Amino acid sequence: MRSAVAAFGLAVMAFGVGSREASAQGSLVVYCSVLVEWCQLASNEFERKTGTKVTIAAKGSGETFAQIRAEAANPRGDVWWGGTGDPHLQAAELGFTEPYRSPLLGELHPWAVSQAEQSGHRTVGIYAGALGFAFNTEQLARKKLEAPRCWKDLLAANLKDEVQISNPASSGTAYTAVATLVQVMGEEPAFAYLKQLHRNVNQYTRSGPAPARAAARGETTIGIMFMHDAVAEAIAGFPVKTAAPCEGTGYEIGSMSIIKGARNPENARKWYDWALTGEAQALGARAKSYQVPSNRSAPIPPDAPKLADIKLINYDFAKYGQAAERKRLIERWEKEVGALPK
Ligand code: F6P
Repeated sequence: MRSAVAAFGLAVMAFGVGSREASAQGSLVVYCSVLVEWCQLASNEFERKTGTKVTIAAKGSGETFAQIRAEAANPRGDVWWGGTGDPHLQAAELGFTEPYRSPLLGELHPWAVSQAEQSGHRTVGIYAGALGFAFNTEQLARKKLEAPRCWKDLLAANLKDEVQISNPASSGTAYTAVATLVQVMGEEPAFAYLKQLHRNVNQYTRSGPAPARAAARGETTIGIMFMHDAVAEAIAGFPVKTAAPCEGTGYEIGSMSIIKGARNPENARKWYDWALTGEAQALGARAKSYQVPSNRSAPIPPDAPKLADIKLINYDFAKYGQAAERKRLIERWEKEVGALPK
């Protein structure tokens, strides 16, 4: 079930060919929080272009944040590439990442630049994507269930154990969902909602995209995740469709940061500048990742969910990317929701 998902949590050693040239250009350790297929394609391309030997460690956003914090006294990673913006902002505030003003900033959409400005240039936006639902159309028909359209639909009594979402401690997707519900409903109603939803949740997965894969394969009927992750499954031929919640939904500004004390700071900046180019960002769609790229010249994949057609909330990145707020909301979720018996 979790082959690709498991790979998402694994360390992937990506040593390229031509290692003599590579070692001449040094090395780079990239902590990667997008789908592992994109991590691999990007690292291979960067190696090919620069001769720099890249080692990738692929993990979700919350897990990578925790790793960077744990390693702060002796950093092992150079760049943190991808993952939801909130934990990147938190890392910036706590001083785990380095300020860097890339000469490519002028090529980016305003939402990507504002992520940089908000963090004192310790992070930057590399893509955007909206939160939504995935549902398996065959499972719905077989179980005679309605396709969900709104957050409130997920509380239906006949959806017991039919919904899957990740765990906000490990996954930036689930944290985005918690922060979204708080912004859509207010904090107390949002936590009341999450407690009710708990009855219908069959599993809180470690990784954010996992519920899309599970919905595609009929292992859950409904998943909550970034819509682009479900689009990839539909394109792969699985009977899965997406919906954007009718009450409004949140979105991510997927981000990138240079880790403070990086052992390969020059190569880290080289990767950073390259990853902001339109050319590098176009690799996402080749790896079947359908986010909206932050470089204005990068083509928006035709299959990417159309953000303009989705009722997006004005997600407050400054507030929900704050270290104390993110910690507080995750702890509250763990105590009041994650700990509830099934
Ligand atoms: O496509 C992968 C993706 O959904 C990214 O868009 C996102 O930044 C990341 O995964 C979040 O993963 P997680 O929820 O595991 O932190």
